[in-house]
Formats: sequence, structure tokens, C-alpha cells
Amino acid sequence: MVNIAVLTSGGGTNLEAILRSEESGRIKSGKVVLVVADREGCQSLKRAENHKRKAVLLDKRKLRKAFEETLVRTLEENSIDLIVLAGFLSILSEDFTRLYSGRIINIHPSLIPSFCGRGFYGLKVHEAALERGVKVTGATVHLVNEIPDGGKILLQKAVEVKEGDSPEILQRRVMEEAEWIILPEAVELMSKKLSEDRNDD
Ligand code: GRF
Repeated sequence: MVNIAVLTSGGGTNLEAILRSEESGRIKSGKVVLVVADREGCQSLKRAENHKRKAVLLDKRKLRKAFEETLVRTLEENSIDLIVLAGFLSILSEDFTRLYSGRIINIHPSLIPSFCGRGFYGLKVHEAALERGVKVTGATVHLVNEIPDGGKILLQKAVEVKEGDSPEILQRRVMEEAEWIILPEAVELMSKKLSEDRNDD
């Protein structure tokens, strides 16, 4: 069984989707044993507690330069195999991504390579898609490397942009129709792969 950590910075709706998929048996090769929030007030910590999972606040503003070393120590203490960035807004260093190379996945709310990279997160992604006038957008799950949103693409799901969409309406549709579906799917795929690579019985 693969130990999973989910790193969050906000509402935790993607975390919720993963936890529900685990509890319904759609995720069976891994288990979320740790939820991390990098700032105060994250709803994700409450969601973790509701599902009786270990929740840790590592406040980046307070920890400053010690944030990443504290994160690594916390991951090691919990024997984490797979890291899932779910609405996580902190940029991770090259050292960190190399340490966990091939074992960090991220959900991005567009069809990469559109509307991604530095500065494209949350609502800004949907504002840019509406500004450009695309008729189709969606979400992408990708491996995380040292380039923001640059790692190998694992899964994508397209979502229709509708006439009169606001960024908020589009964001909600992309979450409901794409993110909350492909992220749990990718978690199971990666957990299965890591288990097989490790020859888990
Ligand atoms: C969403 O826009 C998601 O696409 C992005 O972070 C935002 C919040 O996600 N990854 P969550 O509700 O905290 O999972």
C-alpha cells in the first residue's frame, strides 16, 4: 500500500475528491496518510480531520526558509511514497523535485501547454482562457519537475466553455467535470505503478 501525502493551500475540494475515491474503492493501491497546508485557514485541514486523516499546518510565512526542510522531515517521518499537489500554491525548489523525482503529481486547471507556467494559478487561469476566447478548456494532471507545470502529462480532460461564462463559473465547471475526476484517477494509476515498481505483494 503506497503512503500518500496531499499538499494544499486552500479549499481542498481536490483533496475531498481523492478521499471520497479512496473510501469508495476507486483508489485502492494507496492511502492518504498525511495532509499538509502551507498557510493558515485552509479548509483542506478541516476536510482531512472530517475523514480522520493526519493534518499538519506548515505555515510558509512563519517558517520562511525552513519551510522546505520541515516539509521534507514531515514527509520522511510519515514514510511518504507519493506526493499530490492539490490546489498547492507554493513553488517547490529544484532540490525538492529532484529528491522526489517521478513521485510528485499536480493538478492544473487548463489543458497544458495552454495557460500554464509561472503566474497561472486559480482564477487567473480561467480569466486567461476567457480572454483568449477558447471554446474548450479543461484540466491536466502532470508529473512535477523543476519547471512550473513542465513535467510529463499523465491525464487530461476537456471541458466546454459556455457563452457568458464568468471565471468563477468556468472554474467550478472545470473542477466538477475534470479535476475531481482525473486527479483521483491519476492517484490510483501512480499508486499502482509505484507498488508494482516496489514489487508490493
Ligand atoms: C482550483 O482552481 C484547482 O484547479 C487548483 O487550485 C484551486 C483550488 O483547488 N489546483 P482546491 O479546492 O483547493 O482543491
